[in-house]
Amino acid sequence: MAGRLEGKVAIVTGAGAGIGEAVALKFAREGAQVLLNGLPDDPVEDVAEAIRRMGGQAAVHLGDVSEEENARECVEACGRAFGKLDILANIAGVLVELAAVEDYDIFQFDYTVKMNVRSAFLMTKFAMPHLQKTRGNIVFAGSEAGFNGTPKFSPYGGTKGFIHAFCKGVAGEGAQHGVRANCICPGAISTAWTHKGEGVMDAKTEETTVMAAMMGRRGTPEEMANVVAFLASDEASYVTGALWLADGGVTPAKGMPGEDVPRDLRKEPEFTLPIQHARDGEIGKPLVTKKA
Ligand SMILES: NC(=O)c1ccc[n+]([C@@H]2O[C@H](COP(=O)([O-])OP(=O)(O)OC[C@H]3O[C@@H](n4cnc5c(N)ncnc54)[C@H](O)[C@@H]3O)[C@@H](O)[C@H]2O)c1
Repeated sequence: MAGRLEGKVAIVTGAGAGIGEAVALKFAREGAQVLLNGLPDDPVEDVAEAIRRMGGQAAVHLGDVSEEENARECVEACGRAFGKLDILANIAGVLVELAAVEDYDIFQFDYTVKMNVRSAFLMTKFAMPHLQKTRGNIVFAGSEAGFNGTPKFSPYGGTKGFIHAFCKGVAGEGAQHGVRANCICPGAISTAWTHKGEGVMDAKTEETTVMAAMMGRRGTPEEMANVVAFLASDEASYVTGALWLADGGVTPAKGMPGEDVPRDLRKEPEFTLPIQHARDGEIGKPLVTKKA
């Protein structure tokens, strides 16, 4: 049976870890040729190797796509490797500080806006002419935080609110060229971000983040990749401008409903993709502060 993305060419930003890694692997399993982007020290080549071992085709572009030249070069690298572009998955993003707004480091704020907003804008800008040629589509990484806001992550939630509105505007522009644009809005996903000691969350934040979801557990990167693959596929041909919640029910929830879910129902599904870097995270990267 042919994969859902057979014959398609995709760019996945932030493909060296977490959700981006899973999206890259999922796209490849569904038959796409994939250009993987990540920061220079990210294990993007590992992910490309995993795709090649699966029998897929992957090329690598390393560079911070919040920088104009890197974003332009990323799109051009895809053209050189695979000759066209059908899907842009704007997954790259950062979560670098846990602090009330009065304490929030201004430098970290600027960095968050740059990495979450400017990167998605630049990649979309440079990819759009190519997507218009193939009647392709874009999938953005938004967040439930873009709807709900999240105390002590207020600037982060703000960047995701931008992504939601930006996605809808781009969808409106793209429709006249046959280009769709959608946004996945994850809740707490099992990457380094939601595990204390691996990202910026402390123990209390970790507990409330997970238990605020109706399902009382994190989602997995693969569960996000499944939704992204659907949105990117022709099966979603009538879906555009959509903010697609994949958040274990945290958005409509009240209180801590996860605590009432029996433990056996809180178990995360096993990976079926060869994921290696789900929880590599950001500690050790220059601007990340850890507040335990
Ligand atoms: N993990 C969650 O709970 C969660 C929830 C909601 C939304 N999201 C969104 O999903 C996306 C991925 O999150 P994750 O948890 O997988 O993060 P992660 O840190 O595990 O992976 C993100 C990867 O993107 C890379 N990256 C960041 N900025 C980049 C840039 N400008 N250029 C190139 N590479 C860049 C990082 O180095 C990292 O390897 C983010 O946009 C995030 O906002 C995550």
